[in-house]
Amino acid sequence: LTNNKTIILSNRLPVKITEQNGEYILRSSEGGLATGLGSVYKQGNNVWIGWPGIDVPKERQGEVKKLLATLNLIPVFLTTDEINLYYEGFSNEILWPVFHYLTTYANFEQDYWDSYKSVNEKFKDAAIEAVNDGDTIWIHDYQLLLLPCLIRREKPLVTIGFFQHIPFPSYEIFRLIPWREELISGMLGADLLGFHTFDDVRHFLSAASRLSTSKLSDNVIIHKDRQVVVEAFPMGIDADKFEELTMHAKVAKHSASFKASQEGLKIILTIDRLDYSKGIIQRLQALELLLQLHPEYKEKIALYMIVVPSRDTVPKYKELRDHIDQLVGNINARFRTIDWVPIHYFYRSFSVEFLSALYSTADICLVTPMRDGMNLVSKEYVASRTNNDGVLVLSEMAGASKELNDALIVNPNNIGDIMRAIVRAIDMPIEEQNARMSSMRHIVKKFNIHLWVKNFMDKLKEVKQLQESLL
Ligand code: UDP
Ligand code: G6P
Repeated sequence: LTNNKTIILSNRLPVKITEQNGEYILRSSEGGLATGLGSVYKQGNNVWIGWPGIDVPKERQGEVKKLLATLNLIPVFLTTDEINLYYEGFSNEILWPVFHYLTTYANFEQDYWDSYKSVNEKFKDAAIEAVNDGDTIWIHDYQLLLLPCLIRREKPLVTIGFFQHIPFPSYEIFRLIPWREELISGMLGADLLGFHTFDDVRHFLSAASRLSTSKLSDNVIIHKDRQVVVEAFPMGIDADKFEELTMHAKVAKHSASFKASQEGLKIILTIDRLDYSKGIIQRLQALELLLQLHPEYKEKIALYMIVVPSRDTVPKYKELRDHIDQLVGNINARFRTIDWVPIHYFYRSFSVEFLSALYSTADICLVTPMRDGMNLVSKEYVASRTNNDGVLVLSEMAGASKELNDALIVNPNNIGDIMRAIVRAIDMPIEEQNARMSSMRHIVKKFNIHLWVKNFMDKLKEVKQLQESLL
């Protein structure tokens, strides 16, 4: 009998702390990493180390530790400075825009880098404190790129997996970052590096071969006499959960009342975190073009647009929010009639039950990111279509487009293309909807989150065994 555990490390924990009248309460975190892994980490002997989402003063840290310990979560506390410089700064004003190809949004500040390094050290200390011999460490995402190497230095033999949830850009983009070599060697501390798509793998291998002295053959890098394997693991969702949710009484009630209020309208749904990578502006422009060129659709369609608040202390996010407000206002003012508005815009998050009701009622789901590592919203929509109807319009720049070939695939920069896809979706015969949706549902159900975790963990074990056999 072994007591070995898996230690998950990510910047954000699957729950976040919010303060209400001086009291701390826990809420689910948003975003693909938290929702995807949040439902599986509890199975088995795992702990998850990460930031609880707010600045907790020293005197209350003990209370937070206790609160989280009941969920097998271990907090890493960040100071206000660290939140500004490491999280908002280096992670979300450098790595996020560059990795999503928006290089002009990047702000290469030395202070950001210094803080990124010291916070990665802080996570290293938390990991070292929790780890025992035989444990497996699984690090997630771009906020912790230096962590694999930092842990490796202190625990040369420990098993370390790393998975990146966002795209890895082409070398010509990645090389713009002043600290590119350090980032690559930080990542190469892992035994297995996972990305969502083969393109991300290819880009990483190319950057690693140019920026380190390590030897490369196929998808294996020999780094400091250790074999590091790089592979694609397209992340899935808990498809059964989304299927079952549609049958819950609470969800059915939400769906029925939503349907009744929208009778005779084709419902178009979009759900994103507030983010310039999600193509929200272009999508609104496509809707505007549609209402302009096809007035026959007035009073026939309605866009339900959910934007989940995210990183709104970062200037580019705040600007985006203002831009969305303005565009939605303009379009509604221009096209609305006495008893109809084209866009129902919500700037807030919803419970998974309410999301499920929206997914299962919407005739069309529009997912049009300019870049997205995977995009789980598209998969959640598909999994919720238990009648095999509905149409998914999906950007070719989302990792999910590699698997969901039966969506209407669009180039998110082409407003006309998005508009034509919406028209096609509105008019799509039910037989065609069924054929496309059932084939996508099959894929989402089969390549689910459980299989994703298993594939990653099996590969990590295999890599480690191979390394040991070469010692
Ligand atoms: N989501 C949520 N609350 C909401 C709306 C969405 O938790 O009010 C979830 C959604 O169900 C999905 C995730 O946020 O699982 C978004 O993941 P995705 O991969 O689409 O994009 P990301 O936010 O990770 O860039
Ligand atoms: C994406 C990233 C995650 C991140 C999430 C929410 O899914 O890949 O690492 O947690 O967005 O963003 P936030 O900055 O609020 O953690």
